[in-house]
Amino acid sequence: MSGTANPRAAAARVIFQVTEERRYLDAALDEVTGATAQVDRPLVQELAYGTLRWYQQLDGIAHLFLARPLKARDRDVHALILVGLYQLRHLRVPAHAAVDQTVEATAALGKSWAKGLVNACLRASLREANRVAAAVSASDEMRFSHPAWLIARLRADYPRDWQRILEAGNARPPMALRVNLGRLSREDYLALLERQGALAHAHAASDAALVLDKPLPVDRLPGFSEGLVSVQDVAAQIAAALLDAQNGERVLDACAAPGGKAAHILERAPEVELLALDIDPGRLARTRAGLDRLGLAARLLAADASKPTEWWDGRLFDRALVDAPCSATGVIRRHPDIKVRRRPDDLPKLTETQAGILEAVWPCLRPGGKLLYVTCSVLGEENEQQMRGFLRRHADAMPEPAGCAGARIGRQILPGEDEMDGFYYACLLKR
Ligand SMILES: C[S@@+](CC[C@H](N)C(=O)[O-])C[C@H]1O[C@@H](n2cnc3c(N)ncnc32)[C@H](O)[C@@H]1O
Repeated sequence: MSGTANPRAAAARVIFQVTEERRYLDAALDEVTGATAQVDRPLVQELAYGTLRWYQQLDGIAHLFLARPLKARDRDVHALILVGLYQLRHLRVPAHAAVDQTVEATAALGKSWAKGLVNACLRASLREANRVAAAVSASDEMRFSHPAWLIARLRADYPRDWQRILEAGNARPPMALRVNLGRLSREDYLALLERQGALAHAHAASDAALVLDKPLPVDRLPGFSEGLVSVQDVAAQIAAALLDAQNGERVLDACAAPGGKAAHILERAPEVELLALDIDPGRLARTRAGLDRLGLAARLLAADASKPTEWWDGRLFDRALVDAPCSATGVIRRHPDIKVRRRPDDLPKLTETQAGILEAVWPCLRPGGKLLYVTCSVLGEENEQQMRGFLRRHADAMPEPAGCAGARIGRQILPGEDEMDGFYYACLLKR
């Protein structure tokens, strides 16, 4: 399916690609909006992100009013109905305009026959508001707009906080910046922003972090192309300080792309000898572009971190960062497509990959060296359980700070906590 100039039809196509073909939201948006007028792109983005953010809720509402599910080849019409419902429930647009424009978009999808169906479904949702409200409050999946399997896991892992985590997953995330402290101070960058009328505040969790009051396109960030600043969530900025790599040390970044943490490590210590691996050459190209923009140097290698024969020359590393592939359940507020793309049977594969990378990297670390394990997940099996398993298998590994028996290992940041994304951090020292 190609792009379209109609913004509602374009959003429906993006949602079709994400839900039916498991494509990444950003990749689908880039492709589909190729045919959309520049001025309409922010609207397509708002509709696609918003509809996916509320997907489980909107999907449940659509099913109340559809006599039977649409055929596989007409799932774009189903996606369009969800785009219509999103506008009616979550945007401040007059209802009649939202209905009319969504109905009109059927023609741009080449599905004019569906006009009556889309119209009837959207109008019924307005007319039968009480029925909709009752259905939403009766189902956690609809109320919190997350898949049932994920709600069940969060309830099990966080008996007290699960609702707060789900609500944070539906919030609009703030835009956070990392000031390149090698070039200017955080206060000086704050002044540059203010001169441009943008307000921001410093964040205590990282000495380089600023959080903007309102998001800005990167090309409006002062000095972005000259490398004065990068866009990075505050929780992600904690990694470099925990790893604490020093100039002259050999450091491995085993899963480096797109390179945010690698860049931060080098901003703090430009003389670090950094080897940055990633299995995905396309993402590694983005890492190169990011380091070039910041004027930083590292050796980048497309390789599988779990197979050291592909990348290790036998010289031990002083420090290693394993920012592992994970469920990304801590960053759903930034990537709402995770709620529909991620499946429960992904978890065993992910935990196996994480363990495989940890096993492969550990022997490459010198005695006295430090490994920092990071995920942007909130699921125990990828985080503390993964670390406990590793510690059971490796008598020469010691968590830092060392706790008493039964103490928690690592630090779990929950999404929305102090404005941050959900991240897990654990430091392991090699005896
Ligand atoms: C969470 S992301 C890393 C983010 C990055 N550290 C940053 O700060 O920008 C995980 C990365 O692991 C990569 N990856 C997945 N499996 C891998 C493997 N076996 N070896 C190396 N990289 C892998 C993915 O391509 C992805 O880029």
